Formats: sequence, C-alpha cells, structure tokens
Amino acid sequence: MEFFEVVKRRHCIRAFASKPIEREKLEQILTAANAAPSAGDLQAYEIYLVNKAQLLAALARAAGNQDFLAVAPLSLVFCAHPARSASRYGERGTRLFALQDATIACAFAMLAATALGLGSVWVGAFDDDAVRRVIKAPEGLLPVAILPIGYAAEKPEITPRRPLDMLVHEVKT
Ligand SMILES: Cc1cc2nc3c(=O)[nH]c(=O)nc-3n(C[C@H](O)[C@H](O)[C@H](O)COP(=O)(O)O)c2cc1C
Repeated sequence: MEFFEVVKRRHCIRAFASKPIEREKLEQILTAANAAPSAGDLQAYEIYLVNKAQLLAALARAAGNQDFLAVAPLSLVFCAHPARSASRYGERGTRLFALQDATIACAFAMLAATALGLGSVWVGAFDDDAVRRVIKAPEGLLPVAILPIGYAAEKPEITPRRPLDMLVHEVKT
C-alpha cells in the first residue's frame, strides 16, 4: 500500500476477528518497529509479545477492562527502557528519549499493521504495575503503549482532525 494511503486508512480498530495473524506478517510488523529511529540509535525500549488467551485477558483487565484486548489475537506491549538511554543521555534520556523511542517504534508497528491489511488500536490507558506483572517485565521498564493487532471485525470510525491552520503555527521573525 502506498505510504499516504496507509496514513489515511489507519484508524482505530477495537473489534477483531478470530483469524490469527500470519507469522510472516508479525515479523514484518516487528521489523518495521525495529527500523524506527531512536535517540543515539540506542533503541531504549523493549517489545513484549502477548498471544496467550489467559494473558490477553489479564492485559484487558490491567487496561480497565478494555475487553477488545482479550479478543485480539495478539498484543505488542512497548516499554520504555530509561536506564538504557540514561547511560548516554542522563536525565533527558530517562525522562524523554526512552519514551520517545518506545513511542515511535509503536507508531511504526501500527502503520506496518495497516499496510498489511490488519487493524490495531493504540492503548495508553492502563495500570503500569498491572501491565508489568502480566508481561513479567522488570521494574525498570515503563509500559508506554499496548498495541492489539488483528483482522478487523468492524469498519473504522473516521473522526475529524483539527484544521491545519489551527494546529500549525508558523513562527515569524
Ligand atoms: C496516547 C494514546 C492513548 C490512547 N489510549 C487509548 C485507550 O486506552 N483505549 C482506546 O480505545 N483508544 C486509545 N487511543 C486511541 C485514540 O482514542 C484514537 O487514536 C483517537 O480517538 C483517534 O482515532 P483514530 O486513531 O481512529 O484516528 C489512544 C491513542 C493515543 C495516541
């Protein structure tokens, strides 16, 4: 799919078919995430792949009973790894770069999923500790986004955006 078509088509999907995701497609998504830029090329994030029914249900509970998380065939949990960025960038790495590294990797994965004809939704509302327990991540990692991925069982809702002239501020001399 052409890039701008991918960007246009990407909208949240919160209803998933039971059809599993082909291994090849999952690898393409993970490879796309791995291609994302990162501060100092340090890739200060980790990705946890959750595909067991029991764990997906636990993720849904950790995210305030967002039940579609239990229905999607898999979720990727993107965690910032602050210590990895702090080793070079100190406080800015901890506070900012690790979060940005995890975030842009998730964005790449999301767009890759769309390009492959799959649906996804960015999930940011969850209890950090509960998610960490489900994925068995160490305390030092901060879950940033959960990305459930699967074949869509609904048509996405196309929501309006702020007009560019409200959003973009041309800086004058
Ligand atoms: C940081 C962030 C957190 C979000 N958290 C959730 C969430 O917890 N649950 C959910 O259903 N959608 C969540 N969303 C999805 C937004 O609701 C959605 O992107 C927005 O309404 C625009 O719709 P669209 O993605 O279909 O264009 C989140 C999106 C972002 C970027």
